[in-house]
Amino acid sequence: MPKVTFVERNGNPREIEARAGQTLLEIAWDNELDIEGACEGSMACATCHVIVDPAWFDRLPDPSEDEEDMLDLAYDIQKTSRLGCQITLTDALDGLVVRLPKDVRNMLL
Ligand code: FES
Repeated sequence: MPKVTFVERNGNPREIEARAGQTLLEIAWDNELDIEGACEGSMACATCHVIVDPAWFDRLPDPSEDEEDMLDLAYDIQKTSRLGCQITLTDALDGLVVRLPKDVRNMLL
């Protein structure tokens, strides 16, 4: 099973083994990480915002326009920001590293 490391807001890295085919949001939920995912993956909230390690960013499929539009509204946006609900873990992404942003802004509120 591929591994993904989530760097928590306090800087603590959490390496997690997960099934290929799960989104980063689903993996975060299963492992009680501090990611809300308020819209449950329908690209309407940006509370699943993660910052991808630059070494991995170009290895991910490109974001859709809808994802980019939603990211424009996210807090602590970085060049390698993505929505965790739109990244599906694959065996090729074994070792992926993402960081949780400093804070999140919930677009649904
Ligand atoms: S969970 Fe709401 S945009 Fe990803």
